[in-house]
Amino acid sequence: MAYYRRIGEVPPKRHTQFRQPDGSLYAEELMGQEGFSSDSSLLYHRYLPTAITAAEAFDPPAGRASDAARQANRPLKPRHMQTHKLDTTGADAVLGRQHLLANDDVRISYVLADTPSPLYRNAVGDECLYIEAGQARIESAFGVLTVGEGDYVIIPTSVIHRVVPVGQVRLLAIEATGHIGPPKRYLSVRGQFLEHSPYCERDIRGPEEPFLVDGEDVDVLVQHRRGWTKFTYAHHPFDVVGWDGHLYPWAFSIHDFEPITGRVHQPPPVHQTFQGPNFVICSFVPRKVDYHPLSIPVPYNHHNVDSDEMLFYTGGNYEARRGSGIGQGSISLHPSGFTHGPQPGAAERAIGVDYFDELAVMVDTFRPLDLCGPGLECEDTAYAWTWARPADNRRRLDGTA
Ligand SMILES: [Fe+2]
Repeated sequence: MAYYRRIGEVPPKRHTQFRQPDGSLYAEELMGQEGFSSDSSLLYHRYLPTAITAAEAFDPPAGRASDAARQANRPLKPRHMQTHKLDTTGADAVLGRQHLLANDDVRISYVLADTPSPLYRNAVGDECLYIEAGQARIESAFGVLTVGEGDYVIIPTSVIHRVVPVGQVRLLAIEATGHIGPPKRYLSVRGQFLEHSPYCERDIRGPEEPFLVDGEDVDVLVQHRRGWTKFTYAHHPFDVVGWDGHLYPWAFSIHDFEPITGRVHQPPPVHQTFQGPNFVICSFVPRKVDYHPLSIPVPYNHHNVDSDEMLFYTGGNYEARRGSGIGQGSISLHPSGFTHGPQPGAAERAIGVDYFDELAVMVDTFRPLDLCGPGLECEDTAYAWTWARPADNRRRLDGTA
């Protein structure tokens, strides 16, 4: 996606001689998507990006960065996962990911990371990291992105990078099996954001200068279509003196998403932020709500018949969900085959309200999401019944309050 950037030194003409101070040639690399028929960048390395000295199969930690314990949502139920109950002490943002939900198109995980990740290349697809809290540096051969609360970070397929928390960082990781970018309907035929798009080029941050690291015999973990492999590179892969193109890691803050509002309730597609293969990502941000004199600001009950809806509650209050047990860090899954909506009484309570202070990230998938081991470990199993029996009543009926 993204628009053209040029960082560091590049030769005036592509594919021509470009020499280092010692007279040797820089090693030019073309990283390109879709068979070199889509976005690409040209990078200029000090050393050959092909020079590996070892390769060995790698097994990620069980139940974390693996597909262990993935099971169908059967019996079909709405689910509620409490991510803050997961124990990720000492974790990094790659191998410490706790898998929650997955299908063959997308995998969603959560981590509270406090140690730097290994150098990592996801050769399966793009990653979208959403920062719930804290800060981190995303280092790659393209440069450094400093990200914090509310940032989405898009890391294109096969970009070698590492995530270095500044203190601690809480993040949701959305791993695709293809490319993630803005919805096509937001873009002109040449890729410029159109006026009706809720964000535009000025809201996008990219690397601003080269990032060079010296080193020899450097390990890089590669997640590929048949598992994981540890490569040892002869030289540190962060050896790029310059690059240009449309392919690079970039960040966009959810707080720069301009909500589209109306006299009556606006449909979910107005919140769309990104699209990926067989899924979309939407942002629900603080906004003035519906201003028709008879409007009901909370959503109607709805059934998204072709999608599973995952919603990550990442800030604000959750008035429409009062009584459900949903809170900061919660993830709800409302699957296709189940009609969902506000909690009992929420529609009446919302009448006359003119502002919603809510912040949430939604992932809608077009194929069913399976439940992963860590997701089941932090599940609130009573959630499915809360429309009939809200949590407040449940505690009373159970004699626990
Ligand atoms: Fe929904």
